[in-house]
Amino acid sequence: MEASFRSAAETHRTGSSTMPTAAFLSREVFQEEQRRIFSRRWLCVGRESDLPNPGDFLQVRPVGRSILITRDENGNLHGLYNVCRHRGAQLCTEESGNLSRTIQCAYHGWTYTLDGRLLAAPQMKGCDGFELADHALHRVWVDTWEGFVFVNLHPAPEPLDVWLGPLVGRFSRFNLPALRRADRIEYDLAVNWKLLFQNYSECQHCPLVHPELSEISPFRSGANDLSEGPFLGGYMEIVEEAASMSLSGGAVGVPVGALPPEDHHRVYYYSIFPNLLLSLHPDYAMAHVIWPLAPDRSRVVCEWHFHPDSLADPRYDPSDAVSFWDTTNRQDWHVCELNQKGIESGGYRPGPYFPSESLLAAFDEEYRRHMEDESP
Ligand code: FES
Ligand SMILES: [Fe+2]
Repeated sequence: MEASFRSAAETHRTGSSTMPTAAFLSREVFQEEQRRIFSRRWLCVGRESDLPNPGDFLQVRPVGRSILITRDENGNLHGLYNVCRHRGAQLCTEESGNLSRTIQCAYHGWTYTLDGRLLAAPQMKGCDGFELADHALHRVWVDTWEGFVFVNLHPAPEPLDVWLGPLVGRFSRFNLPALRRADRIEYDLAVNWKLLFQNYSECQHCPLVHPELSEISPFRSGANDLSEGPFLGGYMEIVEEAASMSLSGGAVGVPVGALPPEDHHRVYYYSIFPNLLLSLHPDYAMAHVIWPLAPDRSRVVCEWHFHPDSLADPRYDPSDAVSFWDTTNRQDWHVCELNQKGIESGGYRPGPYFPSESLLAAFDEEYRRHMEDESP
């Protein structure tokens, strides 16, 4: 796919300014976001490789719900509410595991298939009008893209590949479905989820906040190829003397795929509305999945994915990349939390975005579009 890159300043909207206070503090706004955005859009919840075998499951919690992602005997994924159709007991308490062939409720033993059909409800035998087929687990939509698993709580969402439009096929060269996780770190943050997106979308803070990163990747380098809509981002350069984003500056693995020469000195950064940040390096991919928990609280799950050959090769140590980004993440969380604190402190009024913050203004515009969307 031919991408056309432009500097952030070229797409700057003159006069754009940051969001009002309520966007970061108000419980009502938060609930509207949960309803209009997180209950309607495709949310990244993990990786297909988290449930490789039949019977494997993950418990995920979009909008405070409990959803089971299961893999059936045919390899298909299903999204099921983790709620028994008898009297509503929660079915699985573990975060992940293997269910073997069925899901059995611990309360009275109703038993379901891995795709949610009710197989047995012994106490109901012979009851007039009771049909097993009427009591399958409630379902949610599940689909995958590039090895990532997405769910959608809307009863009839647009298909994932339609929603992802410009991203479909765009990153094929990075071989994402084949990559395997080397590490995962969860962060609980005292910050509104939108500030995390905004912080990710500019590097003007990099010289002050990320001295280590700035040595490897000049903050003014690179350009954007997606500058409006739900998917925003572009690339930044890795200096000639370095091979990747790592503490040592060296490569942390074999290339993730058959990359053209220019990609060996680039990192691509994309925000995928509303809960995924995807950072593609020559030798690994990093994904941040963001879960808003309250107006002033978010959980971020950060994972690092490498080519299987890198993980099998003792010459490579993924922690060189993980430590680099864990340090960088914590530097970011610090300024994001300062940002939240300042907004909470009473003197905040919307301030102007500068030209290289054009992606932040674009994020705000997309956010408003979803918040004003009246479709059912
Ligand atoms: S609540 Fe599940 S079998 Fe009764
Ligand atoms: Fe940063």
